[in-house]
Amino acid sequence: MKTAITELFGIQHPIIQGGMHYVGFAEMAAAVSNAGGLGIITGLTQKTPELLAREIARCRDMTDKPFGVNLTFLPTLSDPPYPEYIAAIREGGIKAVETAGRSPEAYMPALKAAGIKVIHKCTSVRHSLKAEKIGCDAVSVDGFECGGHPGEDDIPNMILLPRAADELKIPFVASGGMADGRSLVGALAMGASGMNMGTRFVATKEAPVHDNVKQALVKATELDTVLVMRALRNTERVLRNKGVDELLEIEREKGASLKIDDILDQVAGVYPKVMVDGQMDAGAWSCGMVVGLIRDIPTVKELIDRIMSEAETIIRQRLTGFLDGKVQTDKARAVA
Ligand SMILES: Cc1cc2nc3c(=O)[nH]c(=O)nc-3n(C[C@H](O)[C@H](O)[C@H](O)COP(=O)(O)O)c2cc1C
Repeated sequence: MKTAITELFGIQHPIIQGGMHYVGFAEMAAAVSNAGGLGIITGLTQKTPELLAREIARCRDMTDKPFGVNLTFLPTLSDPPYPEYIAAIREGGIKAVETAGRSPEAYMPALKAAGIKVIHKCTSVRHSLKAEKIGCDAVSVDGFECGGHPGEDDIPNMILLPRAADELKIPFVASGGMADGRSLVGALAMGASGMNMGTRFVATKEAPVHDNVKQALVKATELDTVLVMRALRNTERVLRNKGVDELLEIEREKGASLKIDDILDQVAGVYPKVMVDGQMDAGAWSCGMVVGLIRDIPTVKELIDRIMSEAETIIRQRLTGFLDGKVQTDKARAVA
């Protein structure tokens, strides 16, 4: 399949693996890129620019396909050394960067001077238009259903994607709620040129996380995520667990006066406990509603091949079948 996104990043399939804290290591990114998508190393999971440079080199040893790096601009006062991270990205020969969080405007000259294609993750049309204006090459439009930070507007992709299609000139991918061939075809139908997946990629054989995490994803349903930190205007969609229930209790008690210090135990340092040690009740970690569509733990290649073959069947048989007046069986609605 050829789209503006496959052409922009030089990849075979229009599928991107979004940056994921403590998941987006070289193993994850290489597996996605080797399967024909765009794998992404999560920059800030590497505690220093030097460690990121090493992770990029490790990934290069595992794939000769293009892969990218995620740079998340955190809502913190003490910034990580972003210019040094960008230097590591440039020197590592990376040609694709996924930015997220605050606007990447201040860093665009450095990224562009290095010939890097920038895809900025946005949760609204206005942020997407700003990304276009400051020279981003593409946008990852992240709907309300997404794992992680959906912003504060609460617009699901069924509305957000066609709105983005009406307003943007640069290509965009659909992010949030994407899991299978139906997601991809739906995203393409709504104007996207591909899709970005987070949660779905965590439940794969190659995802370098504790098996408890993968099993929890297979077990959970679409009813098992909740939003936290709304009072801080730093809303995050996470998988419910004991730590998150404590967090919600504190949020109920504190109401609008909630401070980050009130919930540090439930939100700080949680990722290594969950992803490395498999402590599933440790606190808040990002997970999308799409968890309700995850039923297995395939290899990344099995997952991507399945998505592409489902998409082809849906387009060639189900959709053109409607036009040709063929009666559809219910079976054609389900996949895999
Ligand atoms: C475990 C996990 C960690 C994540 N960490 C980050 C991150 O560090 N930076 C970022 O930009 N997005 C992060 N995300 C968001 C993903 O890149 C992606 O936008 C999101 O998962 C898409 O929604 P989905 O989960 O429904 O596919 C994370 C998502 C998950 C599931």
